[in-house]
Amino acid sequence: MTVVGPFGLSVRDQALETDVQAGLAAVEAGLLEATKSEVPFITEAAQHLVRAGGKRFRPLLVMLASRFGDPYAPGIVPSAVVVELTHLATLYHDDVMDEADVRRGVESANARWGNSVAVLTGDFLFARASHILADLGPEAVRIQAEAFERLVTGQILETAGPRDGRDPVAHYLDVIAGKTGSLIAVSGRFGALMSGADESVVDILTQYGERLGTAFQLADDVLDIASDSHESGKTPGTDLREGIPTLPVLRLREMAERDGRPEDLELVALLDGDLSDDARHAEVLARLRVHPALEQARRDTIQYAQDARATLAPLPECFAKSALEELCDAVVHRAG
Ligand code: IPE
Ligand code: IPE
Ligand code: MG
Ligand code: MG
Repeated sequence: MTVVGPFGLSVRDQALETDVQAGLAAVEAGLLEATKSEVPFITEAAQHLVRAGGKRFRPLLVMLASRFGDPYAPGIVPSAVVVELTHLATLYHDDVMDEADVRRGVESANARWGNSVAVLTGDFLFARASHILADLGPEAVRIQAEAFERLVTGQILETAGPRDGRDPVAHYLDVIAGKTGSLIAVSGRFGALMSGADESVVDILTQYGERLGTAFQLADDVLDIASDSHESGKTPGTDLREGIPTLPVLRLREMAERDGRPEDLELVALLDGDLSDDARHAEVLARLRVHPALEQARRDTIQYAQDARATLAPLPECFAKSALEELCDAVVHRAG
C-alpha cells in the first residue's frame, strides 16, 4: 500500500500508483511548459502560483477517472493540464475579488504585482488552456466552455447574493455547485472521456465530480473558519471579512432565528458589523470556531461526500474505484 498525493490516498496497487505518479509528473511538466511566455515577466507571474504548489486535486481526479478506459490515451495528461490551468486562472482572479494577500503559502499575485497584473495573468492562463483544448477537439472545447460559464456564473451569483425571497442556503448551494462543482465535474468527465470509457461511465464520473466538488467547497468554507494559515496556505476568515455568507454562517443565522439564544443573536450582530476591524474579526472567528453551527456545516459536508461516494456504486470494483471512494473521505477530512 502506498500513499499518493497530498490527500494521503492509500493506493493498494503498484501499477495504479506508478501510473498516477507518472501522470501527475507529466502534468507538472505540462504546466511549466504552458506557462512560459516570450515575455519573462509574464512567465514569472504565471509560474508564481504553479511553483508555489497546491494540491493538484483536479489532475489527480483526471488520472483516477482515466482508469475506466485506456489510462495511457493521449488526451489524458493534456486535459489534466487544462483543468489545472483553468483552476489556476480562477485563483488569480478570485484573489483579486477576495482581496486575498496569501495563496498556496506565498504572496498572492495581486498582493505582489497589483490587481491589473493578477487579472491579466489569469487571462493569459485561460488563453493557454484554450490553446491546449483546441488540440483535444470541439467536444472538449464545448465541455470546458460550458463549465467555465457555470463557474463564472457561480462567482457572479455569490457576489450578487440571493434575490429577494430566495432561500439563502439554496442560493449558496447553487453558487458552490457552479463555482467549484463545475470544474471538478469536468475533471472526472475528461479523465473518463479521454480514456474512451463507456458513455455511462463518463456520466457517472461527471456526476461524481459535481458532488465531490460541492463537498470540496463546503470543506473549504469550513476550513476558512477552522484552519490556520499554516495548513491552508491562505488567510483564515477571508470569507467573513469579505462578507461572503458560507454555510457555517448560514447555519448560525438559522439557529439564531429558530432558537433566539442571546449569545447567537450577539454573534450575528457582530457578523453584521464592520469586520474590517481586526479585533472584531478575530472575536467572530474565535466564537465561530467553537459554535455548533460549524459542526452542523461539517455534517452537511460529510453528507455531500457520501452522496458523491454513492454515485460510484454502479462502477466495476477496482483499485481506482476504491481510491475514488477514499477521496470522498479525504476531501472532507483534509486540513488544507
Ligand atoms: C481552492 O482550490 C479554491 C476552491 C475551489 C476551494 P484548491 O483547494 O484545490 O486549491 P489548491 O489548488 O490546492 O491551491
Ligand atoms: C473560490 O472560492 C472558488 C473559485 C476559485 C472558483 P473561495 O474564494 O472559497 O476559494 P479560496 O478559499 O479563496 O481558495
Ligand atoms: Mg477566495
Ligand atoms: Mg475559500
